[in-house]
Amino acid sequence: MCGIVGYIGPRKISDVLIRGLRSLEYRGYDSAGIAIMDKSEMYVVKEVGKVADLEALLETRPVSGTFGIGHTRWATHGGVTQVNAHPHEDLSSRLVLVHNGIIENYREIRKDLSSRREGTYKSETDTEVVAELLSSLYRGNMVEALTELQGLLKGSFALAILSRDDPDRIYCLRQGSPLVVGTTGKGETFCASDVPAILPYTQDVVYLDDGDMAELSREGMKFWNSRGEPIEKKISHIDWDVTMVDKGGYPHFMLKEINEQGAVLRNSMAKRIVDERVDLSAELPWTEEDVRGWKKLHIVACGTSYYAALTAERFLERITGFDIRVDVASEYRYRTISADRDTLAVFVSQSGETADTLAAERIVKSLGGRCLAVTNVIGSTLAREVDDILQLKAGPEIGVAATKTFMGQMAVLYLLAIYLGRLQGRVTREQERLWCRELLALPYKVESILQRQGELQEMAGLYTHARDFLFLGRGISYPIALEGALKLKEISYVHAEAYAAGEMKHGPIALLDPRVPVVVVTPRDALSEKTFSNILEAKARKAPVIAVATEGDESLDDTADRIFFVPSAAEEFSPFLTVVPLQLFAYHFARFLGCHIDQPRNLAKSVTVE
Ligand code: G6P
Repeated sequence: MCGIVGYIGPRKISDVLIRGLRSLEYRGYDSAGIAIMDKSEMYVVKEVGKVADLEALLETRPVSGTFGIGHTRWATHGGVTQVNAHPHEDLSSRLVLVHNGIIENYREIRKDLSSRREGTYKSETDTEVVAELLSSLYRGNMVEALTELQGLLKGSFALAILSRDDPDRIYCLRQGSPLVVGTTGKGETFCASDVPAILPYTQDVVYLDDGDMAELSREGMKFWNSRGEPIEKKISHIDWDVTMVDKGGYPHFMLKEINEQGAVLRNSMAKRIVDERVDLSAELPWTEEDVRGWKKLHIVACGTSYYAALTAERFLERITGFDIRVDVASEYRYRTISADRDTLAVFVSQSGETADTLAAERIVKSLGGRCLAVTNVIGSTLAREVDDILQLKAGPEIGVAATKTFMGQMAVLYLLAIYLGRLQGRVTREQERLWCRELLALPYKVESILQRQGELQEMAGLYTHARDFLFLGRGISYPIALEGALKLKEISYVHAEAYAAGEMKHGPIALLDPRVPVVVVTPRDALSEKTFSNILEAKARKAPVIAVATEGDESLDDTADRIFFVPSAAEEFSPFLTVVPLQLFAYHFARFLGCHIDQPRNLAKSVTVE
């Protein structure tokens, strides 16, 4: 969490930093700050609240200079105060830095420094201690000081540093938290926690690896490894463009991203379905022998990515012969895992930076399992650590609540399922043809739902008084109920819980009364009649029922209070359709309540600490 940006060059520094911070605000948004230097004059401006609040402050107190760094914070050590906001200086104000991550041993360092260095810390943060430690290590050569610093810090960190003794330079260090740098080659250089902050200026970037240090100047970038030895780094070309990181006329990124889902499906399938056959061989160098050698399939993820994994599990268990286990990464990493050479482990992570998912991947790797990342970010830590990658092709997702990447994850996991099933000899040509047709029809069906958003807006407006929602689904619709409830609670702060419909009688039914709407995901499938009984049970308790059902299904007409119909699809494919009205319902519901939709309180898009 937290977003870092840095710039050296001829543009107005505060504008570049503020623009960068805005595009990183999904990483943290409780306070923000910048430090700008002009030769050796240093100006630090910080404010509690969003980047817009910092921007307003800068209008009344403009600062200028030739190089600078900025930060948007998601508080960990120390409350949300102006003093705790970054950047932080050392005690003698020789240097100033911004930090993303957590320093686990900062208390010991602080104690040790207190016996040697005079002065009073201003903040409660671990970061201020890092600034002081670095200052104590600096003897005229920043790379040497940073090399030493790395050896002394425990935890995860990405740092960007300005020093009075080393003007016109920005130093960067990465250990465990992401950092990317880039230059236009025209006298300006950038660093940031994530590509969107740099994208308006260049599509050519360098991803720092753990232990890497960089020096940014007008002349360009220089790199060193953790031992302080100079290294060359590969430049990666990003195929995202700047229009992907603005709202494109939508009031919120979330709404824009929901509306992009037809395109995400098309992009996910392009070149991967050819002649009604799934072909992932360009990305996965697996032989039939490899696949037949894997007996176990583990899928590990967090949050929305976990629900995409649970959805795909239902399809995978039908069409492949693996012993499948799906788990949240924060649990998986501490359980007794039997993964070895006969295990294919799939790590699903939009950002590729989620700390728990990375830890789980490292465990499987150490046990000899084959690791595959399903991620949206090709330069992410996860992508660089695994054996194989399948990219989501969703484009950058800025709204904190994941929507289009969920769609992309399901698409990629379904393609993977079909591919694995075929290589295991369990999928007939005819079956594969039918599934490919189903997949290829999905973008049109999703778009037909998107054209009827008004219905969901109206529906959401009817329930704004509700303070609890129950979401129900069976079989393949259960993970969609989970995702629907997650979307609603994370952006509206209204309590929403999801249950497997058959579990309603084991507890949640006690909550039902006319004030608790029940959202039932019930596309026409082999289990919809069973779910119908649950609808009747909810109605008998006078709970309002909102159903997501299949077009042409008249069975709910006399029971559900509201029905949103989705186009019909083969039953394994209904999640691609049923999730869309739930995303839109959550969006409009939160909008009626006046919530900060793209940046819900307490949440961060990428959870880079445990
Ligand atoms: C955070 C985000 C969620 C996301 C989850 C996993 O909680 O707010 O939207 O689903 O992390 O993130 P990942 O990047 O690993 O998919």
